[in-house]
Amino acid sequence: MSITKDKIDLTRLPQHIAVIMDGNGRWAKQQGKMRIFGHQNGVGAVRAISEAAAELGVKYLTLYAFSTENWNRSSIEVDALMKLLSKTISEELDTLNNNNIRLNAIGDLERLPKYNYDALIDTIEKTKNNSRMTLTLCLSYSGRWEITQAAKMIAEKVKSGELQTEQIDEKCFSTFLNTKDMPDPELLIRTSGEERLSNFLLWQLAYSEFYFTDKFWPDFGKEDLYEAIVDYQSRERRFGKTSEQLIDKK
Ligand code: FPP
Repeated sequence: MSITKDKIDLTRLPQHIAVIMDGNGRWAKQQGKMRIFGHQNGVGAVRAISEAAAELGVKYLTLYAFSTENWNRSSIEVDALMKLLSKTISEELDTLNNNNIRLNAIGDLERLPKYNYDALIDTIEKTKNNSRMTLTLCLSYSGRWEITQAAKMIAEKVKSGELQTEQIDEKCFSTFLNTKDMPDPELLIRTSGEERLSNFLLWQLAYSEFYFTDKFWPDFGKEDLYEAIVDYQSRERRFGKTSEQLIDKK
């Protein structure tokens, strides 16, 4: 049974959805194909989900495209993924502009091959004035890397006297993260049946609702996104409070 868009309450839409796109390799294997065939087909799902999220009015969509740990895959797969990423980023420029979507990237971007980094910066620059939705690609990213970077920057500021230790609280700390200009995701989606965080947005997902589906990423379509949002809307977000406390506030 597929879920249609009208089941979604647009007044309670998550502002920010984060996605762990998983299962490309298994999807390809099922068809007796090379892993990269799965990644190539994953691009279609990226396009469909970006379009569906923007159409609904989601303001931020963040995709885990390449983790720090993914550098440990075979050089053949890493090279193919890097080429696919830069090709897609360049080819999608017009679609991003036509849909008023701003491209953003977070992670240890300096580790990317130069051709990939250049393609990324070029598309980011050419979409920077778009305002309907921010599409963030996490590339060479991991949550622990990001938190460690933030700790180092804070230590430097304390050392130089620009920041006092007493001024460091959660709000201050989060301004040193790559996501400093974004709200935390209300909803995390992970495909392919795996139910773990894999070092993704460790700080930002503290209060997010998690949605897991057995579908492999290349098979994840618009209706699957609608289903995840409808499921999210059926939950009660308590932020550590009791149901009664939430009712009293209403
Ligand atoms: C996880 O599947 C997927 C990735 C590591 C790469 C994601 C890349 C894409 C969807 C291609 C293009 C992306 C953009 C943003 C243009 P996996 O390889 O871990 O699959 P497995 O768990 O079945 O092996």
